[in-house]
Amino acid sequence: MQIANRTKNLGTEGAFEVLAKARALEAQGQNIIHLEIGEPDFDTPLYIRDAAKKALDTGYTHYLPSAGFQDLRLAIAEHISSTRNVPVNFDEVVITPGAKPILNFVLYSTINEGDEVINPNPAYPIYESLINFVGAKPVPYILKEEKGFRFDLDEVKSLVTKKTKMIILNTPHNPTGGILTESDLQGVADLAIKHDLMIFVDEIYDRIIYDGFKHKSILALPGMKERTILLNGFSKTYAMTGWRLGYGIMPKDLAMLVAKMQINCTSHATTFAQVAGVTGLRGPQDDVNKMVSEFWKRRDIIVDGLNKIPGVKCHKPLGAFYVFPNIKGTGTDSRMLADLIMKGGVACLPGTAFGSAGEGYLRFSYANSIPNIEEALRRVEKVIRSL
Ligand SMILES: Cc1ncc(COP(=O)(O)O)c(C=O)c1O
Repeated sequence: MQIANRTKNLGTEGAFEVLAKARALEAQGQNIIHLEIGEPDFDTPLYIRDAAKKALDTGYTHYLPSAGFQDLRLAIAEHISSTRNVPVNFDEVVITPGAKPILNFVLYSTINEGDEVINPNPAYPIYESLINFVGAKPVPYILKEEKGFRFDLDEVKSLVTKKTKMIILNTPHNPTGGILTESDLQGVADLAIKHDLMIFVDEIYDRIIYDGFKHKSILALPGMKERTILLNGFSKTYAMTGWRLGYGIMPKDLAMLVAKMQINCTSHATTFAQVAGVTGLRGPQDDVNKMVSEFWKRRDIIVDGLNKIPGVKCHKPLGAFYVFPNIKGTGTDSRMLADLIMKGGVACLPGTAFGSAGEGYLRFSYANSIPNIEEALRRVEKVIRSL
């Protein structure tokens, strides 16, 4: 079989690879606590599951228009309009199987070979993978631990060239849990307007925020709606990772093109999942609130526990369900330490799975029970003390 040259540029997600390694160890009888994969450990709320069952029983088993089920496009438009305080119309919404295809379809639809896209580092690895895959150049800006894993605006400004087309933002952030402030967003918005750039903002963790902070969206800033693509979805908020239900908000012309990309690729997201998504958005949000308060408790436990381990320094994140402890004091590099910790019974990711700026860090997902997190902390401490 001959393989196309472009595949050389395709990256991957370390979490899936580490999960496979952990499963292999489990098959040999080892007990592993899973703190590698980024998915809520909760069940999808019952009222959403019931809505999907009802949808299946009432015939929602056929094709739909590619951009999505009309009622869900309307519900998403209403939800984003009211939470971002900016009017969004249903024809500016495209629904996809999981949120990930939004990134893929939007980059293919807006970025030419040779263009430059400014992207965070460390970051969700699919950004850099897909920027490379469409033949563009990723230009990383560094998220700094001392700034709560926010960027330095002067650094971002210094990266803009004549070839820059887009800046990617992610808030709350995977893998660090950092969130951007309104003034960070305003700084990037001014830059985008000055240089006529697009903004791609990934807000998939927008509902998972702690300490009374409020999610701020660049979409709401003056002059930004016409140049912003917002990615969001049901995976994290409603513990619906396996349902594959996500969406993008973007100007109508681009939405039509992205829907056309989808016709060429997946046709649309699963019909009965979309019907249940309407119930998810319009129904009671108590389950989401309960999940977030449980994550909040776990965050405090894991941060405090990691900070008690010699050589480890863990910043307390404000959002998502990840911690990104600095392990430079252990004298071991990220990959080697993650491997040792796996052998010690805990699966986690090396910071380098999220880019070069992740060296010296590990990522733990705390989407696991408190007893498991406490046991994982004991195991990690034992490994690090034995170095
Ligand atoms: C930052 C970020 N964006 C997007 C996604 C993709 O979400 P989905 O599973 O809905 O495709 C993830 C999933 O881990 C993520 O962490």
